[in-house]
Parts: sequence; structure tokens; C-alpha cells
Amino acid sequence: MRLGKVMVVFGTRPEAIKMAPVVNELYKVKDINTILAVTAQHREMLDQVLELFNLKPDYDLDLMKHEQDLFSITTGVLQGLKDIMEQEAPDLVLVHGDTTTTFAAALAAFYLRIPVGHVEAGLRTRNKFSPFPEEMNRTLTAKLAEMHFAPTDTARENLIMEATAMFKIWVTGNTVIDALLQTIKPDYKFGPEFSAIDFNKRLLLVTTHRRENWGSPMRQIYQALIDLTDEFPDVEVVFPVHRNPVVRDAAQEMLGQRKGFHLLEPLDYEPFAHLMNACYLVLTDSGGMQEEAPSLGKPVLVLRDTTERPEALQAGTVKLVGTNRERVYREARLLLTDKEEYDKMARAINLRGRQGGPCA
Ligand code: UD1
Ligand code: UDP
Repeated sequence: MRLGKVMVVFGTRPEAIKMAPVVNELYKVKDINTILAVTAQHREMLDQVLELFNLKPDYDLDLMKHEQDLFSITTGVLQGLKDIMEQEAPDLVLVHGDTTTTFAAALAAFYLRIPVGHVEAGLRTRNKFSPFPEEMNRTLTAKLAEMHFAPTDTARENLIMEATAMFKIWVTGNTVIDALLQTIKPDYKFGPEFSAIDFNKRLLLVTTHRRENWGSPMRQIYQALIDLTDEFPDVEVVFPVHRNPVVRDAAQEMLGQRKGFHLLEPLDYEPFAHLMNACYLVLTDSGGMQEEAPSLGKPVLVLRDTTERPEALQAGTVKLVGTNRERVYREARLLLTDKEEYDKMARAINLRGRQGGPCA
């Protein structure tokens, strides 16, 4: 395929973090005209990443609305990208991962018969509703894509199982590790805005946002965190709260006034990456953090019932614990009280993955 013009499309914080190294590499290639279009499915959280990696979008759909839903994002992306894609007529549209921006951008390109390249292709739980809607977003994107950039051999196998032509798959390694390694500095110092955190204590770094955890599962997670801080005076919870009002309201209501809790605004990637590096343990339902934290040698308790990232699970640095209050408490307590168990999980592993060409 001749590559004259590549249009990169993304819309949320994690897509931006993982595509930033790719876009900056594309800019270096003289023969490729790289166009960056952001949907801004996220606004402030996206802008934080654009600024850090010095990315200046050529197009910005500025879609985000408070309490938006899947329908408005999907139609907004489709409608918004139509004119831009028609006007630019790129040779390839590159999308990343599993958000609704990803799927809708791939669909827009398909409707205009523009080939799609899918970065972070082939991740699967094989459960349509977990994570929801991400599992279907990435599965449907794969159906639309001509080029599949799989981070790992397991992801490649998943694509092959779905009858994806092998010559359309490239195992590229994981771009989030590129972003992380570009960001972590050995001499990094936290600014004064972190002075309330006692870095001599054991820090539990927490994030939650998944749709399937809204409501009771999220409340159970928060209750387990309360149980832990009540029991361990040398533990503090650092929780940069996602801007989704569903998450913010629950976190504020249950944890806002609690001793031992630092509820923060979403952090810039630079301090956040260094917090991952400084913490004792990560508890999260995030996808990307299941790859970043083990790369830094930090154990992760995954607050979900399924994961599409089996590598760290198999290596033993990540454990799937779900959202049940008692289970979350028990698993975290084990790591706070049993050094041997902790050391077993606190081993840095290489999740960057191998880099290879298309499968023969
Ligand atoms: C989205 C993705 C999810 C991804 C996550 C990363 C979908 C369906 N979901 O979920 O796959 O893991 O991003 O964080 O694509 N908000 C702001 N400012 C921001 C960002 C969000 O105020 O910068 C608030 C808005 O009220 C918005 C709400 O959060 O309506 C939800 O955002 P949305 O992108 O719909 O869902 P996420 O839960 O962020
Ligand atoms: N992250 C960040 N600031 C924060 C919380 C997370 O920069 O306050 C980064 C984190 O390191 C990871 C990404 O955002 O790279 C994960 O985003 P999120 O959990 O929103 O999405 P997911 O990974 O689940 O798709």
C-alpha cells in the first residue's frame, strides 16, 4: 500500500497517550503527510496529553458534552469526520484501541472506502459486555480494518482465530510502554500540589471509571478502601478521580471527607506516571495501567471480572480481583501484610513486546 497521507484519529486520554509516540514518529517520516484529527470525546483529559506530547491537532471536533451517551458520541464522530475525511481523502486512517471514537472513526473511514489501520489490535475478553462497550468496539473495528497492529503474539493469535488474514497483521509491541519510558525521569520531583501526600507511607494508587462498575460495584470497591485505611494507619489512598460525573459523585460522597484519602483531579500524565512509580500498590479498572504499573514493578489488583491483557496476569504481577468488597479488601490486605506475596507480584516485567513484520 502506498502511504501518502495518513489521518490519525483519537478522542480520549488513553488513546492520546498510546498514539502520541506513534504520531511523533510519523511526523519524522518525510514521505508521509500526517494529519491529526481529534474528536475530543474527552476534553480536559485529552488536552492534558496533547500538551505534554506537544501534539497540535489539525482538526478538533470538540464533541464532549457532560453526561454524553454512546449514541451521541457515535453519531457525533461519524457526522463530524465525514466532511474532514472527504476533504482530506487520506490513504489510511489510523485508530487506536476500543473506545467509541475508535469504532465510529473506523466506520466513517469504511463508509468512504478509506483503509483503516488499527493500533492495539487483537485484545479480547470474548465477553460482549465486559468491558462494555469496549469489547465490541475493538471487535467491530477489527472487521473494518485492513491493517492490524497487534501489541503481542497473543493479540495476533486472537485475530487469526477470527479469520483475519495473516499478512494483514503486524506485531508491533505496546506503544503505552514507549509513552511511559519517554515520560519517567529518574530525577523527577513532585510539585508543591502533592505536599499533602505522605510519601513515607504506603500509597495505594486507585482509579475507577468502567461503565460495568458504575453503581454498586464501585461503591463496594470504595468501601473496601475505607476498610483498608481504617485498619492500616501507614496507608494512604491517592485517587485521581476521572471526570465522569458518575464516578466523581460516588467517590466524593463516600471518600471525600475521609482521613487517609487524597481525592485529586485527573493528573497530567507526567506526575501520574511518577505516582505509579512511587506507590506501593495499584488498584484499578483501567486498561492501560495494567500494562504500565507492571513495567514499573508495581503489583496491580484489577477491579474487574475480565481482562483482555493476559500477559501480566500470567507473569503474576497483576491479579483479577473483581469488585466485591470482601475480596478487594482481602487481596489488598494480603499484599499489605505478607512480604513474600508482595515480592512475588512486585517484579518488573517487560510488556513492551516484540516488534516484527507481517506474519508470513
Ligand atoms: C471513555 C471510553 C472508555 C475509556 C475511557 C478512558 C467509550 C464508550 N468509553 O469512557 O473506553 O476507557 O474513556 O478514560 O468510548 N468528562 C469530562 N472531561 C473529560 C473527560 C470526560 O468532563 O476530559 C466527563 C463528561 O461529563 C463526559 C463523561 O466524563 O460526558 C464521560 O466521558 P465518556 O468519554 O463518554 O466516557 P468515559 O467513561 O470517559
Ligand atoms: N492516567 C493519567 N492521569 C490520571 C489517571 C490515569 O494520565 O489521573 C493515565 C494512565 O497512566 C493510563 C491512562 O491514563 O495511561 C489510562 O486511562 P483510563 O484509565 O482513563 O483509560 P483505560 O486505560 O481504561 O482505557
